Amino acid sequence: SNYEFGIVGLGVMGRNLLLNMADHHFSVVGLDLDAEKASTLEKEASSGHLIKGTTSPEEFVTLLKKPRAIMLLVPAGKPVDLVIESIMPLLEEGDIIVDGGNSFFTDTDRRVAELTEKNIHYFGMGISGGEKGARFGPSMMPGGHRESYERLRPIFEAVSAKVNGEPCVAYLGRGSAGNYVKMVHNGIEYAIMALISETYDLLHRGFGFKDDKLQEVFESWNNSDLQSFLMEITSEIFKKEDKTTGRRLINLISDVARAKGTGKWTAQNAMNIQVPVPSIDAAVTMRDISKYKMERMAASKALIWKDNTENVGETEIVSILKDAFYFAMLTVYAQGMSQLFVASKEYDYGLNLEEVVKIWRGGCIIRAACLDDFMHAYRRTPNSSNLLLDKQIASIMQKNQSAIRSTIKIAVDKGIPLAVFMSSLSYFDALRSETLPTNLIQAQRDYFGAHLYERIDMEGFFHTNWDE
Ligand code: 6PG
Repeated sequence: SNYEFGIVGLGVMGRNLLLNMADHHFSVVGLDLDAEKASTLEKEASSGHLIKGTTSPEEFVTLLKKPRAIMLLVPAGKPVDLVIESIMPLLEEGDIIVDGGNSFFTDTDRRVAELTEKNIHYFGMGISGGEKGARFGPSMMPGGHRESYERLRPIFEAVSAKVNGEPCVAYLGRGSAGNYVKMVHNGIEYAIMALISETYDLLHRGFGFKDDKLQEVFESWNNSDLQSFLMEITSEIFKKEDKTTGRRLINLISDVARAKGTGKWTAQNAMNIQVPVPSIDAAVTMRDISKYKMERMAASKALIWKDNTENVGETEIVSILKDAFYFAMLTVYAQGMSQLFVASKEYDYGLNLEEVVKIWRGGCIIRAACLDDFMHAYRRTPNSSNLLLDKQIASIMQKNQSAIRSTIKIAVDKGIPLAVFMSSLSYFDALRSETLPTNLIQAQRDYFGAHLYERIDMEGFFHTNWDE
């Protein structure tokens, strides 16, 4: 019984993470009820590595060094509870359980409470980077029992992605902090993916760009300040040929988008704690609109709009769209980070926002060059409430705001929906409005419901008989 780490669930993520750990000379054991998964694990490992697969929970637990470190990589929800239930009788006080899936944060809070009573240390840890990330270096977002993290730290730091030699993993905060941060990561992921797909729509449907040209645009943007993992894979997607037809695969893929729900959770929870994240809301909404294929087919015949754009050249649109993208992308991150700022207080996570953007610089799906700028922004103003207030970020916004306005005008004239771009600009315009028209909303509320209003010239709450 001297294996250093165990993983329950040998699906894509669990298997690859174990192989990654073995590469770094940790002795590891994997548990899966599927015998084939348990045995292929051992075959895949390089020789000399201490790696074992088993289908027996008893053997799994016995093999592990105490206090045991066990990670669960099973689908979020009920499966996590079932695994915990099944291994709990075999565990001892001081053992550590790490949930590495996309669990909903309140589930983690509940599990932390239940297991703390039994002196089991529970961690919710977001892991990003997909299959390749798990195998060669993910970004990991752990939250939970601080002291237990020290036990896990050498393993996590060894297997995580590195940026300038620094590991993309750090203890983030108490309770469900890790799952919450990963949830917001996914909200940002949804919005950036939507911005890229809206860019594609405007260039393709609006300006007739074909796959090769789209590929070139995304590739050149990826070689600029806009560098990001999502930009990079997008440019590669446009090259991919379908094996059976020889056509570009992108044109054969259905436009009905699916989702596992993490982006929706981000938007829903942002509303619960009253943080505006309109770009993430819009990204979720646009995936939902994509599902209404029949309605869209009918409406495309019934509701017609004729393009009335003045002549805009191809070089010109690529150039303003690039600046517009940069602008919108920054507002998306700023919204997500402002959600973390508020959530940290609301849920007492004790998040260090500089640490969050730092570990997002490598390994994860939303890694991008701009995260370095955010890291410096938080260094200038630790725990800033909104990144857009940072001097350097504000100057980039200032420089690119006319481009996003022009881009949106063109899209409106062409009838192309740029919902996430538009939400990003409205967020920016609302943020820089010292006064908003919400005084009128307060008046209306008081008019029909005597809900009271506050005044700018006197203290207190007031009611007026408006129709008197
Ligand atoms: C990651 C991803 C991953 C997520 C997928 C699918 O960071 O590696 O966020 O955790 O499960 O992106 O998400 P949807 O199915 O909701 O699009």
